[in-house]
Amino acid sequence: DWRMDDFADQTIASLRRKIGDGKVLCGLSGGVDSSVAAVLLSKAIGRQLTCVFVDHGLLRKDEGDQVEAVFGPEGPYELNFVRVNAKDRFYEKLAGVEEPERKRKIIGEEFIRVFEAEAKKIGRVDYLVQGTIYPDVVESGLGGESATIKSHHNVGGLPDYVDFKEIVEPLRDLFKDEVRKVGLHLGIPEELVMRQPFPGPGLGIRIIGAITEEKVRIVQEADAIYREEMEKAGLNRTAGQYFAALTNMRSVGVMGDERTYDYAIALRAVNTVDFMTADVVEIPYEVLKKVTTRIINEVNHVNRVFYDITSKPPGTIEFE
Ligand code: XMP
Repeated sequence: DWRMDDFADQTIASLRRKIGDGKVLCGLSGGVDSSVAAVLLSKAIGRQLTCVFVDHGLLRKDEGDQVEAVFGPEGPYELNFVRVNAKDRFYEKLAGVEEPERKRKIIGEEFIRVFEAEAKKIGRVDYLVQGTIYPDVVESGLGGESATIKSHHNVGGLPDYVDFKEIVEPLRDLFKDEVRKVGLHLGIPEELVMRQPFPGPGLGIRIIGAITEEKVRIVQEADAIYREEMEKAGLNRTAGQYFAALTNMRSVGVMGDERTYDYAIALRAVNTVDFMTADVVEIPYEVLKKVTTRIINEVNHVNRVFYDITSKPPGTIEFE
């Protein structure tokens, strides 16, 4: 798409002009938007850019290492990369908390605190980068009428934890598919550019009820198996968002001669255009059976697997 190729080249040039020899801070989540924004900035100003990646311990299996492989010192881009392994802090704050909105709030606040502490260490910051895209602008009521549909969006008040001149939002006029095209043009790995949506609170809202390190491990492993089998079956191209969640239910089962009393995993796969409604993907039975067998055999403390066939509404995409 030549329009997006042009967009990338022109944006890099104009960022370079605007920023001059300023210092820029970028919060990197590993999602498509912040990744593309970071690479545009890296191409424009190189090491004047510092990217901070907060690993809250609620990412999918190996995801933190994947982000580091692309943006870290071994990766292809010129920038300063800071990975903060803040897992213990998050787990501690979340211990025993069951209520979904409270979990979201704790994760969101802790995230800002960790980011803030890193930002202060960096010292001078002239510009702050945000991966805001056009639908975020509209949704938060800045460009449209539908104010605050979701409490979880990254467009909000101005951050006040560092002294900076201005926020830079290079993707503000783009839709998601355009951001992806820019990402591919910039040579960002396809797995990252085509990545499915992943909520900010991460696995925190895919573990129903209180979060423990063991539950995180269970849902990470089950989810990794599910994604692997969906990819093998080519369904990763037809399902927009799919994941495993850990229900808070334990039930009796039998493994060999042993009675078990273990957790149930729920699988979900949906397609959506606007995230307000969603249809369930009709996964072939053979794939579901294979995923179920593998999860039961390979993931400790799971003895049942369910497939959720509830559309949105009445279900939401996530379980919390
Ligand atoms: P629901 O569950 O509301 O999800 O049907 C709609 C879309 O939004 C994502 N989602 C979130 N994203 N923070 C986020 O950044 C959140 O707290 C959050 N909750 C849901 C969800 O993954 C889906 O794509």
